[in-house]
Amino acid sequence: MDKLLLPVLLGTNRKGRNSIHVAKWLVGEMEKRPEMETRLFDVADFDLPQDDYGTGIKDNFPEWRDTISKADGLVIVTPEYNHGYPGSLKAVLDLLLREYVHKAVAFVGVSAGLWGGARVIESMVPMVRELGLAVTFSDLNFPKVQNTFDAEGKLLDPNYEKRASDFLDELIWMSRTLRWGRQNLRSKFHPEAGQAVEN
Ligand SMILES: Cc1cc2nc3c(=O)[nH]c(=O)nc-3n(C[C@H](O)[C@H](O)[C@H](O)COP(=O)(O)O)c2cc1C
Repeated sequence: MDKLLLPVLLGTNRKGRNSIHVAKWLVGEMEKRPEMETRLFDVADFDLPQDDYGTGIKDNFPEWRDTISKADGLVIVTPEYNHGYPGSLKAVLDLLLREYVHKAVAFVGVSAGLWGGARVIESMVPMVRELGLAVTFSDLNFPKVQNTFDAEGKLLDPNYEKRASDFLDELIWMSRTLRWGRQNLRSKFHPEAGQAVEN
């Protein structure tokens, strides 16, 4: 079977962010899986204008646009900031719309506190639904992230390997299922798909 394309979006541009350790480690785990290819996008690399916003400026970000167009799903690594998500993450997600439709999204929550970003993930679910993304139900949570990686980004708790493996298994299942649907079940979003569906 063709490899799935599953990019990772790191959702904070904060100096000293711990979430970068999580994102880089997870990309390493994903690169070990033969079923998928991935690449890391970092909101800090998006030169977002102060005076414009949304899909009207997506052509300023062709790598993001073209990768999400081809992708089968997306992993979002988000820190928890006052129980919410960073504005820069929302601004990057809002650059696209049709490109996300009927693709999987899996969440990785990162926090200094005890809840591993559970609250920020819950708050993102209604938002990504409006983007047309389909949410997996296996999150990956990093509570007390400052104790989970060393200063060089080395993972200190090997229990995360099994958790990441389960998280990726679920993302792969969702992504393959949705890819099959996009390719085979015709809809207004997939007019070229193989077979018409009687509603
Ligand atoms: C503006 C701001 C708000 C934060 N709010 C929370 C919070 O609500 N809950 C929590 O556990 N940690 C909170 N933190 C700590 C972050 O979760 C912590 O820095 C963690 O390492 C993930 O963010 P980082 O990638 O920016 O380091 C907050 C940090 C910032 C900068």
